[in-house]
Amino acid sequence: MHQFEGTLTSKLPQVGTTIFSVMAALANQHQAINLSQGFPDFDIDPALSELVYKYMRKGANQYAPMPGIPELREAIAAKMELMYNANYDSDSEVTITAGATQAIFTAISALIKEGDEVVIFTPAYDCYNPAIEIAGGKPVYVQLKTPDYSIDWEEVKRVVNRKTRMIVINTPHNPTGTVLSKTDLEMLESITKGTDILILSDEVYEHIIFEGTQHQSMCRSEELINRSIIVGSFGKTFHVTGWKMGYCTAPANIMTEFRKVHQFNVFSCNRPAQHAIADYIKDPDNYNKLGEFYQTKRGLFVEAVLGSRFKLRLCRGTYFQVIDYSEITDEKDSDFAVRLVKEHGIAAIPLSPFYHSASDDKALRFCFAKSQETIQRAGEILQKI
Ligand SMILES: Cc1ncc(COP(=O)(O)O)c(C=O)c1O
Repeated sequence: MHQFEGTLTSKLPQVGTTIFSVMAALANQHQAINLSQGFPDFDIDPALSELVYKYMRKGANQYAPMPGIPELREAIAAKMELMYNANYDSDSEVTITAGATQAIFTAISALIKEGDEVVIFTPAYDCYNPAIEIAGGKPVYVQLKTPDYSIDWEEVKRVVNRKTRMIVINTPHNPTGTVLSKTDLEMLESITKGTDILILSDEVYEHIIFEGTQHQSMCRSEELINRSIIVGSFGKTFHVTGWKMGYCTAPANIMTEFRKVHQFNVFSCNRPAQHAIADYIKDPDNYNKLGEFYQTKRGLFVEAVLGSRFKLRLCRGTYFQVIDYSEITDEKDSDFAVRLVKEHGIAAIPLSPFYHSASDDKALRFCFAKSQETIQRAGEILQKI
């Protein structure tokens, strides 16, 4: 072990290891069923891996162009048009990123200055806040209303002021599985109209949405598309979270600023994967069937849990299900999550780390992007608690 003897002042003094790594390590240690982290435990489509081999063999192994290969950017622009009727210029308004995480970090680094305020809805996915703080911005938290985790737009109106530079949106929402409606978008339009507020819209679960609900992408709105940086993830859509591949779309002048940071942050992203995805994404069946696919898994999970003392707050999108355990115990959610691993061999994520304040909804988030067998084994355990 080595030790730096000089002064080291942390830029993120509050940040430790993420709850996802903590729970995954604990699950491993106790050989528990791991429904904590959001990744599939089943194989990907062999056609997709074949495409990667094909392009590696063809020699597509050197740096890709900084914004991404044109074929993939064009395919994304075509998909945005097909799905949302949005017209993006693939040259100047689409960039390929190393997962959504890098797109989010790069967007915030490029656009947030010292003292800028950024509105975040809590519970929130954990990568927004550190990026804002590193950029010198100030996160402003608006808590979602329980039990349905909807947005309190009156509260948003109260916190928005001349310093507000950005509002972070995430729909479908991790961890709660809620989705925004057309009315929510209209509220956002009216609050931002005539202001300099940007919207960072994390839409990584755009295709994982149930009962035929329409995903409310920011680019559906003529008003919001011009102020939005929209982030997507191939990891979530094609079951390849380990590839760390994603993308970002934004109006050209915002994208120019984004790319100024992107080129020094990663320069460019995995080339064979870009070629493979460019071919694969051209068939809409490869993403349009995802909602149905995960709705079936949600059905299996719900069935496996029904009749137990856990109460579901049925998710409308994502592959996460929040479960209320207040009938079982009064314990803090993090304590109960640890006990579930140690005593019952099942890992979930407590909701409290997604909050800024000390909130405890007595609820845990379970990931059902798992094989039928894993889901059934999880159900058997939960039924006995
Ligand atoms: C809401 C949300 N945004 C972003 C990400 C990160 O996506 P990626 O793996 O493409 O970086 C995740 C991953 O879990 C997520 O749930």
